[in-house]
Amino acid sequence: MSPTTHAPTPARETHRSQRWLAGGVDSPVRAGLPVGAPTPALVEGHGSRVRDEDGREYIDYICGYGPVLLAHGDKRVARAVSKAAAAGTVFGATHPEEVRLAQRLVAAFPSMESVRFVSTGTEACMSAVRLARAFTRREKIIRFEGCYHGHSDDMIFSAGASSLSAATIASGVSSGVIHDVLVLPYNDIFAVDRTLRARRNEVAAIIVEPVAANMGLCLPVAGFLEGVRDLCRSFGAVLIFDEVITGIRLGAGGAQALLGVRPDLTCLGKALGGGLPLAAFGGRGDIMAKLAPDGTVFQGGTFSGNPLSVAAAHALLDAIESETGFYAALDARATRLAAGLRSAATALGCGATVVQYGSMVDLRFRLGPPHANMRESSQADPRSYAAYYQAMLERGVLLPPSQMELMFLTASHGDEDIDATVAAAAAALKAACRAKDKV
Ligand SMILES: Cc1ncc(COP(=O)(O)O)c(C=O)c1O
Repeated sequence: MSPTTHAPTPARETHRSQRWLAGGVDSPVRAGLPVGAPTPALVEGHGSRVRDEDGREYIDYICGYGPVLLAHGDKRVARAVSKAAAAGTVFGATHPEEVRLAQRLVAAFPSMESVRFVSTGTEACMSAVRLARAFTRREKIIRFEGCYHGHSDDMIFSAGASSLSAATIASGVSSGVIHDVLVLPYNDIFAVDRTLRARRNEVAAIIVEPVAANMGLCLPVAGFLEGVRDLCRSFGAVLIFDEVITGIRLGAGGAQALLGVRPDLTCLGKALGGGLPLAAFGGRGDIMAKLAPDGTVFQGGTFSGNPLSVAAAHALLDAIESETGFYAALDARATRLAAGLRSAATALGCGATVVQYGSMVDLRFRLGPPHANMRESSQADPRSYAAYYQAMLERGVLLPPSQMELMFLTASHGDEDIDATVAAAAAALKAACRAKDKV
């Protein structure tokens, strides 16, 4: 597939969907409110490219919002899934491949002594938080503004991604839940310290994205995660790393291996399932022992650890292990993309900042050094991004329809994709600059 240059027209499928799907979508970000149009209705994907129902092709940087790490339609994953499907898709009993996958994760993540599989990142984070409450017998949770940990009641307000939920009953969250969740600014270790001192013996857990990827790409400042680790130890709170995005995407042992900070519990998801729904949480043995049936914390799921998703996960891990330098090659492609976007933005002087970490790239219309928290992330100019998104779409490049989300690369994004994207961006940024000038 090669990307085509075209003026996008509203996708037929999108208009039809508005009658039958609530709001026209199954996840609000797909409605594309920040860019003024829904993401085109996609019918297939191969490698780094996707095709919409009108036959237009795009170089894809949404990539399922993170799960696609090898390629769209990867043949190794497809073969494994189809073989598993022919042997029964769900049993409601443990099967050996599920156990073998748990062994592989425990080997890759030294902080995890055992794991439990679930189907979504939301479930993983929700279950880890419940477990931490039971383990500590405390009720309050600390999390950080702009981080996103799924859409459970505890996690949805003042969150990142495209949640846009306020801490009110209008978001469907009860005041009891709001009362038990303390939301602090990311990267502010003094706020964490103050809160733990003021709430001595009340805080069950701190949940954090070690590399925050839901308010654009926001890196932890030096000492932040280490400080949170120490404070959790001092105040008896469980440290939960939400590595739903970063876990398998950044390297075999996730962000925790790269950054050298060991959490008590870890949540995985997205890329873990090789493109199928699979997530997990795991960690210290004494904490995991509180889970039923051994302990008192119930958590379960009809499709948890299902053979299809597990087969896809093994195929993904096999593919990564079979390719020496898999992550180095992937990250090098992202570095090349970020460098190209950065120089295009600098040449035009249109005030865009590019941040990259591993295979994640963020371009946002905001002057100054990269943002360190949600307040700074919100200073990005939405009109410029909307104009840029549309101009890139016209040039055959599919970006996330919100500055809160990132560009994700896969192993199938080649140098030709990167060069085509940078060339498109050089032209599209001009459109974005013009949009800003009109403000
Ligand atoms: C860091 C993080 N945690 C949790 C979730 C929730 O995962 P899911 O959408 O699979 O429920 C997401 C989803 O975007 C995420 O980015």
